[in-house]
Amino acid sequence: MDKERLSQVFGGAWADLMRTPIHLDSLLARQTPRAKSILAQVIPPILMRPVSIAEALGVGVPEGEPWSLDPASLVNWPAARQMALELHAMLQGGSAPSVQASPEDYPPKMREMILKDWGKDIASQIFSELAQPAPLSLRLSRRVERKAFMDGWKKSGKIPVRMRDSQVSPLGVVLESYTPVLHTPEYDRGEFEIQDEGSQVMAIFTLWPELIAPLLRPSPQNSLGAPLPSLSDLQAPAWKIVDACAGAGGKSLALADLMKGQGRVFSYDISAPKLQALRRRATRAGLNNIQAIQVPEGRELESLRKFEKSADRVLVDAPCSGWGVLRRNPDIKWRQSAESLDRFPALQLRLLEAYSGLVAPGGTLVFGTCTFRKAETIDVIEQFISRHGDQFSKSHGGFVGPGSSDGFFMQSLMRKA
Ligand SMILES: C[S@@+](CC[C@H](N)C(=O)[O-])C[C@H]1O[C@@H](n2cnc3c(N)ncnc32)[C@H](O)[C@@H]1O
Repeated sequence: MDKERLSQVFGGAWADLMRTPIHLDSLLARQTPRAKSILAQVIPPILMRPVSIAEALGVGVPEGEPWSLDPASLVNWPAARQMALELHAMLQGGSAPSVQASPEDYPPKMREMILKDWGKDIASQIFSELAQPAPLSLRLSRRVERKAFMDGWKKSGKIPVRMRDSQVSPLGVVLESYTPVLHTPEYDRGEFEIQDEGSQVMAIFTLWPELIAPLLRPSPQNSLGAPLPSLSDLQAPAWKIVDACAGAGGKSLALADLMKGQGRVFSYDISAPKLQALRRRATRAGLNNIQAIQVPEGRELESLRKFEKSADRVLVDAPCSGWGVLRRNPDIKWRQSAESLDRFPALQLRLLEAYSGLVAPGGTLVFGTCTFRKAETIDVIEQFISRHGDQFSKSHGGFVGPGSSDGFFMQSLMRKA
């Protein structure tokens, strides 16, 4: 693609990305195959390390940019276009620079919050981890034996990238880069789902918090080094599980599979299209023990009253800032305002309180987020316990990743009998 055409194609894609809340994958999916392969190489590094890359390429960026720009100016940020052209030329010549992230690659408000929450050392690890591309992680069904599955793919030669066991999830397989795994008979047979390892861990934690507890850390960081739990000797329970914020079903599918098709997973969400996607995925995976139910926002309690105190497990995987998944969604940090961030903790506490009513005596409530902001993790739990400590007690909790997986927080709370 010549320079002028690339400038046009990149400019259009960049403007769409900055103007609309479109996910990067959806944006790329709309491009021609040629444009997609170029944009997939140049857009993510610019989103992840805008200031560091500009500096490495000698592209002049005025002090404070891009974070000082208003949304309208970001749409046409000239430095982004220049970086794209330079990066593409270097990639073609086989000499793309390897550029470390710096704190300036993150919006000032985010930078301040991370430094205040976790201090300089952990913050600088976080800045570096969140600017690395994430691998492609798969969660294997519990009915599939991991070694046999990987040997099968290696022998067939159909999957052209290196793969390895996850170092965090006992169900996980990690492929070093993107490869079209969804066009395989194994996927059609429901043998795996694409799911980050931290998300897999949260699903296992929901059933067996004590098993995952050794992997959890008191602060956001790599979870490598802890011995991986084995699930092979565990009986599959036949529990009633509520997945309160099920979305398109990443964790619901894992929970249903962990119970080997027994018990029942009730998957709630306010979004009808996400629940529709969940139903499609459950059918393909051959899981009949999931029921997806739409709930009206703000009136969850009314519609769920009949389920009060009846669930063995309730997972509240709450809406959050998503900072733990910035490796996969680097565009999020370009869009968040201080006001939108401020809204999450109250929403999280409200949802945790609303859905806590469904936990049976002796059952477990799990709160999870894909972020590491104290306000959306530890602080929510402290507030919940300060109000409901007579009914619930904290059992296990902490962080996995970012780095060894995306960054997640999870906490289990036991309902007193
Ligand atoms: C972090 S996402 C869930 C991801 C999902 N659990 C998974 O593993 O793929 C949070 C979800 O909460 C949903 N949500 C927001 N408000 C809600 C409410 N009042 N009740 C239930 N779900 C809600 C959003 O639609 C979104 O799908």
